Amino acid sequence: YSLMIILPTLRISNCLKLQNQSGSDWPSLDSRPLPKWFDSAKFGIFIHWGIYSVPSFYNEWFWWYWKGSKAKDSIKEFMKQNYPSVKKYTEFAQNFTAGKFVPDDWATLFRESGAKYVVFTTKHHEGFSNWPSKVHGNWNAATDGPHQDLVGAMATAVRKQNLTFGVYYSLFEWFSMNYQEDKKKNYASNEYVKHKVHPQLLELINTYKPDVLFSDGDFGPSNYWNATNFLAWLYNESPVKDTIVTNDRWGTDEVHNKHGDYFCPEHEPINTITHKWENCITLDKQSWGYRRNMVDSDVLTVNEVLTMLIRSISKGGNLLLNIGPTADGMIPQIFQQRLRKIGKWMQINGEGIYDSRPWIFHKDGANNVWYTRKGKYIYAFVLTEP
Ligand SMILES: *[C@@H]1O[C@H](CO)[C@@H](O)[C@H](O)[C@H]1NC(C)=O
Ligand SMILES: *[C@@H]1O[C@H](CO)[C@@H](O)[C@H](O)[C@H]1NC(C)=O
Ligand SMILES: *[C@@H]1O[C@H](CO)[C@@H](O)[C@H](O)[C@H]1NC(C)=O
Ligand SMILES: *[C@@H]1O[C@H](CO)[C@@H](O)[C@H](O)[C@H]1NC(C)=O
Repeated sequence: YSLMIILPTLRISNCLKLQNQSGSDWPSLDSRPLPKWFDSAKFGIFIHWGIYSVPSFYNEWFWWYWKGSKAKDSIKEFMKQNYPSVKKYTEFAQNFTAGKFVPDDWATLFRESGAKYVVFTTKHHEGFSNWPSKVHGNWNAATDGPHQDLVGAMATAVRKQNLTFGVYYSLFEWFSMNYQEDKKKNYASNEYVKHKVHPQLLELINTYKPDVLFSDGDFGPSNYWNATNFLAWLYNESPVKDTIVTNDRWGTDEVHNKHGDYFCPEHEPINTITHKWENCITLDKQSWGYRRNMVDSDVLTVNEVLTMLIRSISKGGNLLLNIGPTADGMIPQIFQQRLRKIGKWMQINGEGIYDSRPWIFHKDGANNVWYTRKGKYIYAFVLTEP
């Protein structure tokens, strides 16, 4: 997930001829009912953890802004000051140690926050996989850095706390040669998708059986990603076909806010929307990944988070709240404090949150009272003192 999408304009091509498998057209895919758990859960935790957690500067797009076409002077300067001898981003992998990572502690904290599900980054745009992938398996959490299966460890710990486990997966990678070659051909060939993306997605789903698949980095048309054929497999044949939910980031050709189990808008919608959606926000307002120079005022307050949670669910959404752990596997104290305070509030007010539905009005005129309903009750959340 990214705060800013700054990439060259893409021309959409439909050159790739797809053979549709049965049930793989959008109308069939869209007719699948939303698995019930997702709308009831309302609140989840998002985790951005990868090699970018080592330089932990600027944001998780560090590599792109260091070496990409829009490189930033501030990052070059940071490298000069802090890592004068480091030439390649891959060198940071050795310090992604996860040495203090205690998955049960993380998962316990997430349960205490009142969240009902957790979405974990399995591969971000950098291309490093947080599980021992057998697909191009030479740069992952088992061969490098942590030398352990982070995705597996997280899945087990999260489930032990009776929370639902989900995965984030970036389709594209900034510096994948195969992706770049497909792109140069205007997406008329999809070698990268055939040999990397689909095999990895299948491996992830079959191995960890996640109940959320948060797709991201869908730069290229849905034909290129062969999205409908993958989703037909996910919905009809995969081991999680009855429980998994996926978002709408499956192509740049008008898939967003149109297809997928839930929409993933970049901004909170103005009104209630009837299709399920999710609001993703990050506790550190500047970054999804950990930043060594984060200061307290960069961090959303408990009131700000709760306001976004309430506004989102009043309009039919969920809230997915992101944290960025450090490279050695610590969750910054200030994030822990926020999460525990949110959890205290949820213990008292959760009745109007979990399992609730939007009411006929989502708020009063002045923006300070927001509503949900459950059974015969209407719940009113008063955000400012009358
Ligand atoms: C496959 O499905 C897509 C999207 O529904 C449609 O545009 C396309 O024409 C179909 N292709 C074939 C070969 O049927
Ligand atoms: C890795 O960590 C060591 C020890 O803290 C440090 O000296 C070195 O500069 C780091 N290198 C990279 C590439 O992170
Ligand atoms: C998880 O659910 C099981 C079965 O309902 C229960 O026995 C267990 O105590 C729960 N664990 C936690 C950490 O809440
Ligand atoms: C698309 O996915 C289907 C199902 O996995 C596969 O059979 C087909 O070969 C793929 N097509 C392309 C062009 O990648």
